[in-house]
Amino acid sequence: MKKIIIAIDGFSSCGKSTMAKSLARNIGYLYFDSGAMYRAVALYCLRNNLIEGDKIDTVKLREQMDNIKITFEADPATKNSVTLLNGVNVEHEIRSLEVSRMVSQVAALDFVRSEMVEQQRNMGKQKGIVMDGRDIGTTVFPDAELKIFVTASAEVRAQRRYDELKARGDNPDYNEILENVQLRDHIDQTREVSPLKKADDALLLDNSNMTREEQEQWLKEQFIAHTR
Ligand code: CDP
Repeated sequence: MKKIIIAIDGFSSCGKSTMAKSLARNIGYLYFDSGAMYRAVALYCLRNNLIEGDKIDTVKLREQMDNIKITFEADPATKNSVTLLNGVNVEHEIRSLEVSRMVSQVAALDFVRSEMVEQQRNMGKQKGIVMDGRDIGTTVFPDAELKIFVTASAEVRAQRRYDELKARGDNPDYNEILENVQLRDHIDQTREVSPLKKADDALLLDNSNMTREEQEQWLKEQFIAHTR
């Protein structure tokens, strides 16, 4: 069967990563979380005092871009892909609300995007990958054979993020999460470089009222249809 690139884009917290991960596992493809890369850059900024108040020191960040190496590896215990920042596992830290608050601003910077996009294209050289994000079908892989654009209402998405943070032992505030989801939607859709939008040839998936099983089935059908 021919190997393809599967691009999954969409709004924050609509379950793209869960969906992309399980699809990759089911079809034996590699999974790449492009959002994790922007999150790791945001974490680097927080740790290296490149953020004051809510302003990023873009001059220093640009100078330090070469010091930021982001890679993925399989966790030996769970086999899940984890994100490494300069060789150190930061998978837990990059999911914090502190990082979520800054990530869309970091991801709006053109020099950050061009560096990440280059690394992402290298990851897709062999095909046989599923990558999720905001601009995968529009900018990173405009020729991807299968493109999916996922959406769900902001309230459903905030609830999902709330449940996720709660399950890992955090003490989240639903309203704060909803605000963050809406703010990131706004920044992602209105930024100048590669704004979040559905590629013309992407399939639209609104999963507000879909179970995980229904979604998996739908994805599998699309995969089969696109690799025939
Ligand atoms: O998990 P969630 O959907 O909330 O976000 P994410 O995929 O972890 O991405 C975090 C942030 O990175 C997004 O809100 C975007 O601002 C940015 N991002 C981006 O600009 N381009 C991508 N390809 C992926 C993420």
